[in-house]
Amino acid sequence: MRLANKVAIITGAASGIGLETAQIFAREGARIVIADLNEAGANAAVQTLEGDGHLGMACDVTDSARVNEVVAATIESLGKVDILMNNAGVASLPGDGFAEAVAAGEFGILHMSDDAFDKMMAIHVSGAMYFIRACVRSMQAAGGGAIINLSSIAGLAGVGPVHYASAKAALLGMTKSLARDLGPAGIRVNAICPGVIDTPMTQAVPDKYIEPQVKATPLRRKGVAADIGNTALFLASEEGSFLSGQALSPNGGLVIT
Ligand code: NAI
Repeated sequence: MRLANKVAIITGAASGIGLETAQIFAREGARIVIADLNEAGANAAVQTLEGDGHLGMACDVTDSARVNEVVAATIESLGKVDILMNNAGVASLPGDGFAEAVAAGEFGILHMSDDAFDKMMAIHVSGAMYFIRACVRSMQAAGGGAIINLSSIAGLAGVGPVHYASAKAALLGMTKSLARDLGPAGIRVNAICPGVIDTPMTQAVPDKYIEPQVKATPLRRKGVAADIGNTALFLASEEGSFLSGQALSPNGGLVIT
């Protein structure tokens, strides 16, 4: 088992990519903490995991005090944090003006509200920073750790609306900066930039927006959550032990850099 005796916190793992990753990590021997806005979903997700000792916790990643509590409770119950996957996210928000811009045939940014832009940054960027900050001491004491930030091809290549692409690109900057900073403590920081993955997030998007992306994908399919979970496993395990500050992009060839 590639993650025997490891403790992993995965945010947003009540659904989609996070849930699949939690299941893969648990099969590899890790004990998992699922931290999600959706408390019932987090607890239900825990029931699907192999092995014992997993925990579900209610957490809005934009609430730094709650993030600190979740990490403290993890250390109290499971002793440490070895792996952190910052995965919680949304692709759209009320007030982001997407539908209005499409209807009016106008630039999306003209309809973007301050609140929607700030909230998108708070969920993806501030949330990730709060969790990393709260985990560093435990990882340092354990002699190292693995942090995985869920970015996107939106962050790599701008595929996506301005608030989402900005947030996902900021995560790449955070990944690179912290890889330099935390590397001497044995803490590796990497990002994953998925292409179009079949999850509840993309299932909520009308086909007319998804299909052109699939057609433009050389492998001519959407990814599945396991494509990302297995990439995360590689980054979290010993097999990825010399990777830090990198962005891996399982995207079927849609974005080639
Ligand atoms: P999903 O919608 O299936 O799951 C997202 C989870 O995040 C949900 O359980 C939700 O409750 C949780 N969440 C949302 N806001 C939260 C908050 N403030 N605090 C705590 N939890 C919160 O989405 P999916 O597709 O599994 O996405 C996971 C990550 O992968 C996201 O960061 C997303 O942006 C990223 N991603 C997804 C792609 C896709 O095609 N599905 C492509 C590229 C990146």
